[in-house]
Amino acid sequence: MQKLTIAIAKGRLQNEALELFASAGLSVSGAALSSRRLAVEEDSGRCRFIFVKPSDVPVYVEHGIADAGIVGRDVLLESGADLLQRITLKIGACRMVVAGPSNIALDSYGMLRVATKYPRVAARYFGSRGLSVEIIQLSGSVEVAPLLGLADCIVDLVETGRTLRENGLQIVEVIAESTARLVINRASYQLKSDAIASLVESLNNAQENAHD
Ligand code: PRP
Repeated sequence: MQKLTIAIAKGRLQNEALELFASAGLSVSGAALSSRRLAVEEDSGRCRFIFVKPSDVPVYVEHGIADAGIVGRDVLLESGADLLQRITLKIGACRMVVAGPSNIALDSYGMLRVATKYPRVAARYFGSRGLSVEIIQLSGSVEVAPLLGLADCIVDLVETGRTLRENGLQIVEVIAESTARLVINRASYQLKSDAIASLVESLNNAQENAHD
């Protein structure tokens, strides 16, 4: 069967994704995992994994460098890449929210300043609400922006809620629920159909067994 290259979002999703692959019979040796290598061979030879920044997973998959990828729905909402979404995974659950200081009223601003790593999602969301916003794009540590006066509120991910709490913020509105997705390159879906079908089946089975 043809070998697949699978891009995995580095960071909080990475371990959960590798555990899921391992329970689907696709594991990586401890030595490879503890190395700093960003492309590692999977033990059975069916695939190799590449570890890239979450927002780069859709880029690698859309360009066909990776045949498939594991990435959060939040990243896909922002990316706009042309990909096939095959499986909704149960890993990486979080919410994309508007958060701000406890007394914030979003519609009381002439121009609401919103700090975020998700400028497109934020612009779409506030646009649909008819609110005028200035989007301030950041690359991380977004929760500190209201505290320092850079923004009135943020659009960001919440998993446990701890980062919000510890920076004096609370959820104002929930924009979307997010979990990880298996995404597939359109050409690979045709050209490597057997390998992709087998991957999808293995992951589906692993998910079902994990739930039993
Ligand atoms: C994410 C997210 C929040 C935090 C939420 O950031 O952007 O900042 O995790 O998690 P919590 O609700 O469990 O506290 P990440 O750790 O990916 O780093 P970043 O600041 O670079 O975005």
